Amino acid sequence: MATDLTRPSHAAPDWTVAQDWHSYSAEEHTVWDRLFARQAEMLPARVVPAFMEGLDMLRMTKPGIPDFDELNARLSDATGWQVVAVPGLVPDEIFFEHLANRRFVAGRFIRTPEQLDYLQEPDIFHDVFGHVPLLVHPVFADYMQAYGEGGLRAAKLGMIEALARLYWYTVEFGLIRDGSDLKLYGAGIVSSYGESVFALDDPSPNRIGFDIERVMRTRYRIDDYQQNYFVIDSFEDLLRQTRDTDFGPIYERLRDRDAIDVGDLLPSDRILHVGTQAYAKAGVRA
Ligand code: PHE
Ligand code: FE
Repeated sequence: MATDLTRPSHAAPDWTVAQDWHSYSAEEHTVWDRLFARQAEMLPARVVPAFMEGLDMLRMTKPGIPDFDELNARLSDATGWQVVAVPGLVPDEIFFEHLANRRFVAGRFIRTPEQLDYLQEPDIFHDVFGHVPLLVHPVFADYMQAYGEGGLRAAKLGMIEALARLYWYTVEFGLIRDGSDLKLYGAGIVSSYGESVFALDDPSPNRIGFDIERVMRTRYRIDDYQQNYFVIDSFEDLLRQTRDTDFGPIYERLRDRDAIDVGDLLPSDRILHVGTQAYAKAGVRA
């Protein structure tokens, strides 16, 4: 999401472009395969089971960068979602409009072999491997559409920042309860080898029960592992707290309240783990 972008001349008015699958080089397919092999081996014990079911159902285990036409045939059968290619970041309202119509926008480029472990800009591995498997889950699929509709409303009310935080702490960096365990579901985590371990195992970050108002006040960092993760009980519970809640009164309260800094805890937090913040204090990457 971003503002003040200029639409490249080869993109349609809704900012979509052709994926042009045949133009990927052998080296680019190999980068996908290396990233895929590493995550597919590590994730089964860590990710919400619906994610592995989605990978399987979409036949994403097939080698190489997925061809969106093939992926979309299966995805639209499952939940009516589609993946569409875009040149990079798109304006907020374009992004929300696509989601509200069950279209997930994905970058078509892939990182270089030197960037296997880290890049700040989302590439096709993040967008497709990270986000698309859960679009097969009916409840999560409904959440993503409702989020797009909520985004269009938030844009009119000048509350995009609050809604962007919700996206960040659910769709990108969310954790979910699985019995007495925690599992991953956020795409920013599951597309990163390092953060897939850090988010569950490292003593540094706080792990806090999900609360809509708390999340919408919480700042986040885009340059390194998160200092807070928010834990939902289930996708049904997430839908109840978001789609089935009118954000109007919440937005009114948020206008007069300060943002909460990354890493800060509040007395009202439902804390599952108090982070040591050792990793953030050491300033490893920043
Ligand atoms: N219920 C929210 C509103 O009233 C819309 C929304 C749904 C936002 C799902 C995010 C996710 O604006
Ligand atoms: Fe993402």
